Amino acid sequence: MTRTVLLLFACGLAACKGYRAPRFDAAQKLGGQTVSAEVLTEGARGYAQYCRSCHGDKGDGKGTAARGLRPPPRDFTLGVFKFAAVPAGMLPHDEDLERIVRGGLHGTAMLAWDGIPEHQVREIIQYVKTFSPRWKDEEPGEAIKPPEDGWKGREGEAVVRGRKVYHGLARCQGCHPAFAPKEFIFAATKELTGAGSADFREDLYGSELKESDFGVKLLPPDFTRSELRSIRPDHRKEDLYRVIASGVGGTAMPTWQGSLPDEDLWALSHYVDSLVALKGTDALQRLLEENLAADRRWKAPPAAKAAPAK
Ligand code: HEC
Ligand code: HEC
Repeated sequence: MTRTVLLLFACGLAACKGYRAPRFDAAQKLGGQTVSAEVLTEGARGYAQYCRSCHGDKGDGKGTAARGLRPPPRDFTLGVFKFAAVPAGMLPHDEDLERIVRGGLHGTAMLAWDGIPEHQVREIIQYVKTFSPRWKDEEPGEAIKPPEDGWKGREGEAVVRGRKVYHGLARCQGCHPAFAPKEFIFAATKELTGAGSADFREDLYGSELKESDFGVKLLPPDFTRSELRSIRPDHRKEDLYRVIASGVGGTAMPTWQGSLPDEDLWALSHYVDSLVALKGTDALQRLLEENLAADRRWKAPPAAKAAPAK
């Protein structure tokens, strides 16, 4: 698939007519590294060939092929990236950008560019940094690396813990859908925070549209339906840990590292992965029906109504 698309979007000699990639005659300091003029010139050439059609001549995400794309191609002039393994909003490391470019962002127009030689990807990445002044003044954020998974061999327990943390402690259902009934959420909140909360969004089993820094509102994914962008099939668990711990830059999705212990971040990764596995199954349908049926039966304890909403 990648190859056909490369042909579609790569600009052949004819398609590139009238555009001349910039040439650099001096090295630049970008994100704390000195990048040579040759690398930037080569990078600009590769960018023109593979990336410019969507990300635009000026890197502003307004290329000729960008019209109507949802999500829109990233505007590199902002210097804000979503899927870097750094606290959300910090500048990414080169290895983040390489992972994203080579792995692609699933369910979007940003495909896996795994056919471009490695050195060329690295050159393109350096050139991309010239679009935003942030790279002149700042260095990448502290790298977030998945630690050893302490739940190995106890994945079932991890899912049980993850379900509780998701609904009762981190309260991911403030933006993403809930996947458990109100009674469970109330009890889990009480167990993990000391105070049960019966403060539920009206659309508890759907996502809540959120503002972003990219000029569009974003819908937090429903893990049992949407495609997760940054998850590569062969690195599922590690990628999930990384994106949950780091958060998603420029969006409402916060950095969870620091607010939750590693063990709970891993438990959440296992739980979210178990939700992804429900996609398209009868079990998913049953889960939704059971949650609604349980909610019809449940009466919030009177004291809970006064409890402070977190
Ligand atoms: C067909 C259109 C298209 C082409 C061609 C394309 N991209 Fe993208 N790119 C996108 C879209 C759409 C997004 C935004 C996805 C999102 O917001 O989840 C994106 C996002 C990105 C991001 C941001 C990742 C993040 O974490 O925020 C980077 C970096 C990137 N592209 C680099 C490249 C490079 C380098 C090339 C050329 C090798 C390229 N893109 C070619 C459409 C494209
Ligand atoms: C304040 C709102 C908010 C909260 C709370 C929140 N998220 Fe998110 N989350 C988002 C948004 C918005 C996105 C999608 C951004 C986009 O479209 O690029 C997202 C994306 C994600 C993704 C998808 C990453 C990908 O690769 O596509 C995962 C996984 C995720 N969140 C897990 C969680 C977990 C687990 C929790 C609780 C620990 C949580 N989120 C809490 C708003 C939130």
